[in-house]
Amino acid sequence: MSKRIGILTAGGDCPGLNAAIRGVGKTAIIEHGMQVIGFTAGYSGLIRKEYVELDEAKLSGILTLGGTILGTSREKPFKIEKGEEFNDKPELIRKTYQELGLDCVVCIGGNGTMKTAYLLQKEGLNVIGIPKTIDNDVYGTDITFGFDSAVSIATDAIDRLHTTANSHQRAMVIEVMGHNAGWIALYAGMAGGGDVILIPEIKFNIKSVCKSIEQRFKKGKPYSIVVVAEGIDKPANKQAGDYIAYEIQKRTGIETRDTRLGYIQRGGSPSAMDRILATRYGAYAAELIAQEKYGNMVAISGGVLHAVDLSEVGGKLSLVEPGHPLIKKARNLGVLFGDEKA
Ligand code: F6P
Repeated sequence: MSKRIGILTAGGDCPGLNAAIRGVGKTAIIEHGMQVIGFTAGYSGLIRKEYVELDEAKLSGILTLGGTILGTSREKPFKIEKGEEFNDKPELIRKTYQELGLDCVVCIGGNGTMKTAYLLQKEGLNVIGIPKTIDNDVYGTDITFGFDSAVSIATDAIDRLHTTANSHQRAMVIEVMGHNAGWIALYAGMAGGGDVILIPEIKFNIKSVCKSIEQRFKKGKPYSIVVVAEGIDKPANKQAGDYIAYEIQKRTGIETRDTRLGYIQRGGSPSAMDRILATRYGAYAAELIAQEKYGNMVAISGGVLHAVDLSEVGGKLSLVEPGHPLIKKARNLGVLFGDEKA
C-alpha cells in the first residue's frame, strides 16, 4: 500500500520553500510511489483540512520560485489564546490526519514550527521537520535554507551603501533581519565589508561605537558602514537601525543615515546554494518517511545530512557564539562589534 503524505510550510516565508516542497514531493512520488498533498497556510490548513493534491505537474517549475505555493501562517495549534479554556485545534488536526489517511506530515518551518511538529508527534501523528528560516537560528543544524539568500540580498544592499556613503562622507547604518540572532548581520556584514557589526549576542556600548566612527573619520576614512541586527538591545519604541543612526549623529555630529532592509531579505528567487540545500533537505525527508523514521528533523552537519530527534530541537535557538571563528577573524581585520573599550 503506497504511503500518503502531507506537506505544510509554516512561519515566516523565505526563498527556497518551493524547492523544499519539490524535493520532498518529487522524491516521494518518483522514488517511492507515494501520494502527496499540500496543506495551505501552514498549520491552519491542517486544522481546517484545506489542502491541494500535489502531483508531478504541480511540482514542476517551482524550484526557482520565491515564497511558497502553499502559503503560510504563524498559527500555533497548541497555544491557548487569552480567555480560552482550551482549544480543539490538536483534535481537529488529528481528525484531518485520520480522515485523509495520512502516513506522515512534513512540516517545513523554523523554531516554532519544529516545536509544534514535536507536539504533534507526541499526540501520535507521524511527522518530519525541515529547518527553514532566513534567521539561521534553528537548533540542531549547521544551516537553514533561506539564510544564504538573505545574506546575498543584504550583502548586495551593503555594497550599494558604500558608494553613496563615500559620495556624501557619511556614516550609513543598515538594519537587517534575524529576529533574536545575529547570523545575517555577521555574515552580510563580513561579506559587505561592514566597519561595525552589532549583533544581539555581543553587548555593545554606544559610546564605543561612536568613538570608533569618530576615530575612523579622524584617520581620514571618508565614510563608515554600520550593520545592525534588528534584535540588538534598544529602546522599546525605536527601530534598531534608526536608534543607532540617531545616536551616532547626535553624539558625533557626523552626518548619518539609516536603511531598514526588512522583507526584501525574504523575497525573490532562492540563491543557488539555497536551491541545493532545500532540495537535499526535501529529498532526505522523503527517505526518512520511506524508512518510517518519524519524529525527526532533517539536518546538516559538516555537509553531511542526518536526522535529529524533534525532542532535541523544540524551544532552543542556535545563536552566534561570541567566540565564533568568524568574529575572531573580523576583529583581526579591524571590524568593530561595539564592545571595544570606549
Ligand atoms: O523569522 C523570519 C523573520 O523575517 C525575522 O527575521 C523577522 O523578525 C520576522 O520574521 C518578522 O515576522 P513577520 O513576518 O511576522 O512580520
